[in-house]
Amino acid sequence: MGVEIRVEGLTKSFGRQVIWQDVSLTIPAGEISVLLGPSGTGKSVFLKSLVGLLKPDRGHIWIGDRDLPRLPESQLYETRKLFGVLFQDGALFGSMNLFDNIAFPLREHTRKRESEIKNIVLEKMEMVGLLGAEHKLPGEISGGMKKRAGLARALVLDPEILLVDEPDSGLDPVRTAFLNQVFIDLNAQIGATFLIVTHDINTARTLPDNIGLLYQRHLAMFGPREMLLTSDEPVVRQFLNASKVGPIGMSEEKDESELEAEAKLGHDPGKLPPIPPQQMPSNGMLRAGMHAPGAWCAAHGVTPPPGSFVDDLGRNWVEEWPRYVASMTPVGASGGPGAPGGRFPGSPPPGRPGAGAGY
Ligand SMILES: Nc1ncnc2c1ncn2[C@@H]1O[C@H](COP(=O)(O)OP(=O)(O)OP(=O)(O)O)[C@@H](O)[C@H]1O
Ligand SMILES: [Mg+2]
Repeated sequence: MGVEIRVEGLTKSFGRQVIWQDVSLTIPAGEISVLLGPSGTGKSVFLKSLVGLLKPDRGHIWIGDRDLPRLPESQLYETRKLFGVLFQDGALFGSMNLFDNIAFPLREHTRKRESEIKNIVLEKMEMVGLLGAEHKLPGEISGGMKKRAGLARALVLDPEILLVDEPDSGLDPVRTAFLNQVFIDLNAQIGATFLIVTHDINTARTLPDNIGLLYQRHLAMFGPREMLLTSDEPVVRQFLNASKVGPIGMSEEKDESELEAEAKLGHDPGKLPPIPPQQMPSNGMLRAGMHAPGAWCAAHGVTPPPGSFVDDLGRNWVEEWPRYVASMTPVGASGGPGAPGGRFPGSPPPGRPGAGAGY
């Protein structure tokens, strides 16, 4: 499950305003990628372009052998069915309860019977930890629950690609952590290709397999998490370490005098902090898209900063990893390590509140 998206030379402008140009990247199938960038750099425009809601001026978006911007309307409609999307303003219909909100795409795009719709809706609500909240209206639930309801709605058509725009905006750090766990577990279970836009640096550092950064009308970098977290490229380094030191200023780019002043003060970006271990699925699952901790660094002769891949319990995941993989229950029907073995999400993992807790 999950398909690759290959973007080549993509350029988008509105009138004379160039949003970004010559963006090229391959979003690997079944992996989790995160897209970062200062506000207004066109992250939402990028997601909307991927799903065919906005037409780029130039370039290609390959999904298999289909080039999205060049598809006739009928084929575009078919291709869109591969996508589940949670937009930034991911509005739920205020007058509909959560069940009807989540059932909406099924009633709109399929001819499934109500009994079947009910099964699907409840299954997706369980995946995002909302079981029991079917009859609540959007106005009666917390921001975190709304995000998860939007997520459930993006999942009902079994997408191969899930695009999510700032799921964590307006959420407190604890709810963000729970939501990130939902993403990791979902990815382990459905194996779709995930692209998540976020401003949360902790999320960017711990959640994804790959990170991309949009800056100044181009894609500054896209690649494996370990590559960006060890990068010396000033923009990448500043952004991923939420630092004031570097080329990015309040109005996106610092001017000459600001940079000169910084140089005079002798600010240097300091040592790189350790690479945190990547967030793991709960309930002892493996994600097919996850890479062994430290593998990218080892393959590229990069020494990770001291203390990298060590978790709160002091375990070093470079050493733990082979043991962890070997201890995995062999998975059933679909086979292969990391294939969903139906182990998720019968019950919430320890310490994870259910729907009623309202995160
Ligand atoms: N439909 C549109 N017509 C004209 N300009 C647009 C349109 N959509 C977006 N823009 C402009 O494109 C630029 C990028 O917008 P976008 O919403 O993609 O930024 P963003 O990176 O998602 O920002 P944020 O982090 O604040 O969500 C902005 O200057 C915005 O005004
Ligand atoms: Mg946006």
